[in-house]
Amino acid sequence: MTQPASATGRVLIVMPTYNERQNLEIMAGRIRESTPDADLLVVDDNSPDGTGDLAEKLAEADPHVHVMHRTEKAGLGKAYLAGFTWALERGYDVIVEMDADGSHRPEDLPRLLAAVADGADGVIGSRWVPGGKVVNWPKKREVLSRGANIYTRVMIGFSVKDATGGYRAYKASTLRRIDLSNVESTGYSFQVDITVRIIKAGLRIVEVPITFVERERGVSKMDSAIIREAFWRVFRWGVQSRLGR
Ligand code: GDD
Ligand code: MN
Repeated sequence: MTQPASATGRVLIVMPTYNERQNLEIMAGRIRESTPDADLLVVDDNSPDGTGDLAEKLAEADPHVHVMHRTEKAGLGKAYLAGFTWALERGYDVIVEMDADGSHRPEDLPRLLAAVADGADGVIGSRWVPGGKVVNWPKKREVLSRGANIYTRVMIGFSVKDATGGYRAYKASTLRRIDLSNVESTGYSFQVDITVRIIKAGLRIVEVPITFVERERGVSKMDSAIIREAFWRVFRWGVQSRLGR
C-alpha cells in the first residue's frame, strides 16, 4: 500500500531505541513496506547492545533512514524532544512516534496518517477505544495502563482514552504551536504531557484503534521511576487545570 504523499506531505517516523538490536532491522523493513515514502529517524541513547551501529548500517544502505546518536540513556521524553526538533528543522509535515519493539505495527500507520489527512492535529493509536486491543500483554501491564488512563482522565478532565499511548502522528504545525521548550517529562509521562498541551492549545486529537502487540524480543524499559514520575506529574497537571492554569 502506498501512502498518498500529497495528502499528508513529508512524513518522519521518530523511533527512540535503547537496546533494540534484535528488533530494529525487522521494524525498519516493515516500515519501508507499509509507508515507502516516509523517512525514519532512529534516536539511540548509546545502547550497549550496539543498536546504534546497526542503525548506522541501515542508514548507509537506505537514504530514507537516519540516525541520531545521543550520549546516554536520558528517557523516552528527551529522545522524542530531540527527534521532534530534528524533524521541524528539516521541514517535515507530519511527525510520527513509534516504539521499536514491534508493539506498534507499521501496517497500522497508513490509518493514522489518513486521520491526519482528514484534519486531525494529533492522532493517537489507541488500545482503549472500540476496535483497539492488546495482544500477549501481561495482565499486570494491562491493568497498569487501564488504571493510569482512568487516573489521567479523572485528574485532568479530558476524554482521551489512551493518553499514555506511544503510537502517534502529529502535524508539524501542532508541534510548532505547543511550547516544547519547557517540557520536563523524561519518561512515558511525556505522552500525557504532549496530549495535555495539544488540548490546551485548542487543537483536535483523534484516537484511531490499534492492536498493540507485546514485544517478542528484548525487554521493556518501563520501571518504577517512570511510573512515579507519571503519577506525580499527572497529579500536578490535574491540580493546575482545576486552578484554571
Ligand atoms: N532513546 C531512548 N531512550 N529510547 C527509549 C528509552 C530511553 O531512555 N526508554 C525506552 N525507549 C524506547 C524503547 O527502546 C522502545 O523502542 C520504546 O522506547 C518503548 O519502550 P518500551 O520499554 O518497549 O515500552 P513499553 O512497551 O514498556 O511501554 C509501552 O506502553 C507505554 C505505556 O502505555 C509503550 O507503548 C510506551 O510508549 C507507552 O507510554
Ligand atoms: Mn514495548
